[in-house]
Amino acid sequence: MSVDPHSFRNVMGRFASGVTVVTARNATGAPVGLTVSAFASLSLDPPLILVCLNKGCHDLAAFQTGPFAVNVLSEDQEAQSRRFAGPRDERFVDVETTTGGNGCPVLPDSLAIIECRTDSVVAGGDHDIIIGAVTSLRCRPEKRPLIYFASGYNRLAEAPPEVG
Ligand SMILES: Cc1cc2nc3c(=O)[nH]c(=O)nc-3n(C[C@H](O)[C@H](O)[C@H](O)COP(=O)(O)O)c2cc1C
Repeated sequence: MSVDPHSFRNVMGRFASGVTVVTARNATGAPVGLTVSAFASLSLDPPLILVCLNKGCHDLAAFQTGPFAVNVLSEDQEAQSRRFAGPRDERFVDVETTTGGNGCPVLPDSLAIIECRTDSVVAGGDHDIIIGAVTSLRCRPEKRPLIYFASGYNRLAEAPPEVG
């Protein structure tokens, strides 16, 4: 049975996710980043995460080499999500960033920041699966997540549970 790409996109969009901005530095040291919802925890021991990046992504090489950072967006960062999916030369203009321990630009207001070195890269169709070994973590548990569902931004209706 062949799968129609439109239906595939539509059905997969029914899987609610958080939203991240994945950041790194390119070969010249300039900050790079893009909005990514294909992010997941992969392994606890050792701590590994993964992000799936389109093979056509301009700054793919920076993430294939690493290091990189995953900025998990809070509900008040929808503008950053839109910004980092828009024109590349505007992404870091007037956006507050600091430098993470691994040298990557990070968005300090994020709900969580996960710094990684690139562990490995696995080809997956038209995307690359970038596997990151986690080198540093920080979290702002009082913040609420930005949610992406059915091609639109959403927020949690109820307060999230307390986490330790
Ligand atoms: C909510 C949202 C989620 C996205 N998730 C991904 C993703 O998981 N992987 C990806 O490669 N692009 C994703 N994109 C698209 C990129 O952010 C966007 O296409 C970007 O412009 C591509 O990179 P480039 O312009 O740096 O080449 C997403 C965009 C949005 C708005």
